[in-house]
Amino acid sequence: MAAPQETSKIVILCLPNLSIACGQECTELGIPPLSVEPLGVTVEGTFADAMRLNLHLRTANRVLWPLAQFNCHHPDQLYKGVRKVGWERILDPDGYFSVHGYVKQHTIRNSQFAGVKVKDGIVDRMRDKTGRRPDTGPNRDQAVVYYRWKDNKCEIFLDTSGETLSKHSYRIHPGKAPLQEALAAAILITTRWDPQTPLVNPMCGSGTLAIEAALMAMNKVPGLMRHNFGFMHVQMYPESTWKKMVLEASRKVNTKNIPKLVATDIRRQAIKEARDNARQAGVDHLIEFEVLDFRKQALPTPTGILVYNPEYGERLGQDKDLEQLYADLGDFLKQKAAGYWAYVFTGNLDLAKKIGLRPKRKTPFQNAKIECRLYEYELYEGTRRYGQED
Ligand SMILES: C[S@@+](CC[C@H](N)C(=O)[O-])C[C@H]1O[C@@H](n2cnc3c(N)ncnc32)[C@H](O)[C@@H]1O
Repeated sequence: MAAPQETSKIVILCLPNLSIACGQECTELGIPPLSVEPLGVTVEGTFADAMRLNLHLRTANRVLWPLAQFNCHHPDQLYKGVRKVGWERILDPDGYFSVHGYVKQHTIRNSQFAGVKVKDGIVDRMRDKTGRRPDTGPNRDQAVVYYRWKDNKCEIFLDTSGETLSKHSYRIHPGKAPLQEALAAAILITTRWDPQTPLVNPMCGSGTLAIEAALMAMNKVPGLMRHNFGFMHVQMYPESTWKKMVLEASRKVNTKNIPKLVATDIRRQAIKEARDNARQAGVDHLIEFEVLDFRKQALPTPTGILVYNPEYGERLGQDKDLEQLYADLGDFLKQKAAGYWAYVFTGNLDLAKKIGLRPKRKTPFQNAKIECRLYEYELYEGTRRYGQED
């Protein structure tokens, strides 16, 4: 275990397919990735850097600070390995902690059993060293320990995030088929949207894409909307460093030079909910909301980007109606959106073909276990109809 002021590897876990966008965010923060894997990014930094990642990252799920790594062939070795960690210097003996993790190992059928071994190792060590023991339970609102036991190697981490970072603390209405906030942020990063460029989000639903865009445009990072992280509940938490970090980030929030941001949806209820969510995020005054059929969308400026997340038949609507909707979307793009870049995020690759335009780029994503794509279209006068292949 590295001392907090020393550098260590820091593992950032992401939802599937978000690690490329997350790696980009790390680079922009000055903490470039050592590696980018399908479900995460590894960087190097101090404990304060781990806190900064928690404050800034829009696309991450959790930030892990390594405590130990050992060979592990059997649950008893897991218990012994965990017990060797100096928990009395990390946890409050009168406090509370929670354990969660990931196991892929042939001697373990029930991952909860591995969690119990980890918990027992921690509690027994704390009792030996301090004569007291912290409480444990499933809630991740205080100190959180994460284990990753794959084949015969086990890693133990402090989960410095605690509750997931993928939610950005402003959603008061869940909406019907919402994008998770981290996924919406990754979609915007993947579009290479410059936050000076006008952005139109028809079919906005609960408003996630438009709200994330507004937050990016004003430089408001998700950690500013949240007051509790796992790292705040361990002994090495440098509270004054955190306060300085938060102050520095809040000074960079700026509502000047916000581009035109438009969010529309055919359902009045969706617009009401999107507006409420935006108010909660502090960005409702930066977004123009309107109840509108996407076919009637007037584009506010000669150039900009259009971002769509139409229904795709897994959770809402029926494919027959949706075929027409995607065809109409294609017609709109061909006839009324010259000068724009358009992005369509969908989990139905057959429906996407109904758009009838050849995408310039297709980026794979996943949403609630459904394979999705973000299709990119460059639209110009005389954009022609092409067949799509996927
Ligand atoms: C998958 S949801 C969008 C979810 C959104 N990305 C979010 O995070 O909440 C699709 C939305 O398209 C809207 N919609 C369906 N047909 C429409 C149309 N013709 N014009 C505008 N919006 C439409 C639905 O009301 C629904 O809110």
